[in-house]
Amino acid sequence: MAQRPYVVGNWKMHGTRAMLAEARAIDRAAERLIKVQVALAPPYTLIHATRNEAVLIGVGAQDCHPADGGAHTGDISAAMLKDAGAGFVIVGHSERRADHGETDADVKAKAEGAIAAGLEVILCVGESEAQRDAGEAEKVVARQLEGSLPQGENAAEKVTVAYEPVWAIGTGRTPSIDDIGAMHRAIRKKLVSIYGEGAGEIRILYGGSVKAENAAEIFEADEVGGALVGGASLTAESFLGIIAAAAEGLQG
Ligand code: 13P
Repeated sequence: MAQRPYVVGNWKMHGTRAMLAEARAIDRAAERLIKVQVALAPPYTLIHATRNEAVLIGVGAQDCHPADGGAHTGDISAAMLKDAGAGFVIVGHSERRADHGETDADVKAKAEGAIAAGLEVILCVGESEAQRDAGEAEKVVARQLEGSLPQGENAAEKVTVAYEPVWAIGTGRTPSIDDIGAMHRAIRKKLVSIYGEGAGEIRILYGGSVKAENAAEIFEADEVGGALVGGASLTAESFLGIIAAAAEGLQG
């Protein structure tokens, strides 16, 4: 990994205040592993408390509404997230695309709203199993990038891309290292074609069944700049194994 690796925990719909102890433990360990940029995206209800508990790690959200505010019962704007202490937001996660019918245009609007509010963005893309089996994985991901990457001044500087094949999320299955590398190279090419040469700096994370046991190998794949981790980010013990692998990958 040429850049400082970025390892982000997506807690999804997990976590009550009891889990703040895990955030604290992750934060404390991050002090020893400063070569890795570490962040957590807890549920909305824990963002403020996590920010207060954690000194070093980034804290972000898992979604936002594209608008600044208004009559949208139950929704949360990017400005509210920033006020609660978030520094970034994940947009376009496949669970949101599936559970809430979010389109690429929705995801783009959210990403642009988040950047306008001063947040960084982690944009998720990834193919389904049927799409991979049909040989369409790269085409699908390219289309998602075209449709959902934010535009506007400085947008490229605010974006991290997470490649998360839908069939690898929570399943214990991962693509081969060659397939991860091939997809990440294709994403880099697409980013450069959309944003220009500055896109060489954008980090591309891999997500989908990353664990301490497979992280080192995944971090060696081409153009992998870190990981977006679900289940294995829920305890400090398992998450720290991944962060340590990123730190070692950097040295190696
Ligand atoms: P798992 O690490 O649980 O497979 O989840 C990946 C993910 O969806 C992170 O956003």
